[in-house]
Amino acid sequence: MSFPKRFIITLGLVTLFGSLCGGITTIEAKPKIERQPFGKTENLTPVDLYTLTNDKGVEARITTYGGIIVSLKVPDRNGRLGDVVLGYDNLEGYLTDSPYFGALIGRYGNRIAKGSFQLGGTPYQLAQNNGDNHLHGGVVGFDKVIWKAKALWGEDEVGLQLTYLSHDGEEGYPGNLSVTVVYTLTNNNALKIDYSATTDKKTIANLTNHSYFNLAGTGDILGHELMLKADRFTPVDKGLIPTGELSSVEGTPMDFTKPTAIGARINQNDEQLIYGLGYDHNWVLNNSGGKLALAAKIFEPISGRVMKVYTTQPGIQFYSGNFLDGSITGKNDEIYYKHFGFCLETQHFPDSPNHSNFPSTSLNPGQRYKQTTIYKFSAQ
Ligand code: BGC
Repeated sequence: MSFPKRFIITLGLVTLFGSLCGGITTIEAKPKIERQPFGKTENLTPVDLYTLTNDKGVEARITTYGGIIVSLKVPDRNGRLGDVVLGYDNLEGYLTDSPYFGALIGRYGNRIAKGSFQLGGTPYQLAQNNGDNHLHGGVVGFDKVIWKAKALWGEDEVGLQLTYLSHDGEEGYPGNLSVTVVYTLTNNNALKIDYSATTDKKTIANLTNHSYFNLAGTGDILGHELMLKADRFTPVDKGLIPTGELSSVEGTPMDFTKPTAIGARINQNDEQLIYGLGYDHNWVLNNSGGKLALAAKIFEPISGRVMKVYTTQPGIQFYSGNFLDGSITGKNDEIYYKHFGFCLETQHFPDSPNHSNFPSTSLNPGQRYKQTTIYKFSAQ
């Protein structure tokens, strides 16, 4: 984290002053961060919405409910700002009917087969919320909890620190897991997410963000050109559980080593695409040594918007919004049909606790889980 302590203290005082006065808290500086109420949960817990704005007017709105990125406005090739993430206009949509739009995911991104695994010889049973399987942290994952927020402010960036204590036994996971996520919006149009966590008992952790992007801001994403820095992927079975193999993408519709339109091969008669109803797979990143490296680049030809994804993680789940089916009406009354958004979830591989050949997701007391991902925007 690169926020000097004095900025945090200053901001804390301004925020406190704002809170005492009630209503909207505004910090008059560029870049800036504002807080406003976003409604209440069913049990009447207040939820806040923070608006982070950089010196170019790029804006990220993030709520304390699920740490959700509610909107993200970035320029097209003519400098026009447009919202590039799917979601709802208000809290209610997120509370009642969200396929993880924009949310923080934990303790485990993606599936764990039958929700069961062994750790240090002890068997654990997690909540089964996706058929027999465990998906995205269970029935009440990190996407559905209220995070404690603290605004952060630096010379060239603004940030929002979110913390959550996941108790021993929550959704079946062992250990009290203390989690911190920092969203940082920089003046060079990058949204950085730093995740960290510690535990008091041996456990597993695999955190990510589940934003659905659409760089055109509307319509389907089949014309977006995607490049993935990955020569291999992890094939799945019918239930979308990895078979354990690391297969070459060469000669298959999974090959995105060169920029290719998402829609170019999505309807091919390919077993993996049939199982996923499109792309819903984990790619094995070539640079997966724990250092921040380019993982993906995506270009949308009409708006000219480009998003580059950098991560420290070994895998990236590319999901082409296959389960969107027109039943959700999102922001600005747009109906989200199949392939109207795509996710690039940087993480460890699905079902890692059941595959000893996959990079480990276990976390011991005394260790710190860390992951950093950057979504960097430009236009061409
Ligand atoms: C998974 C999909 C799942 C979706 C939920 C993705 O991360 O890979 O299989 O349906 O999340 O919205």
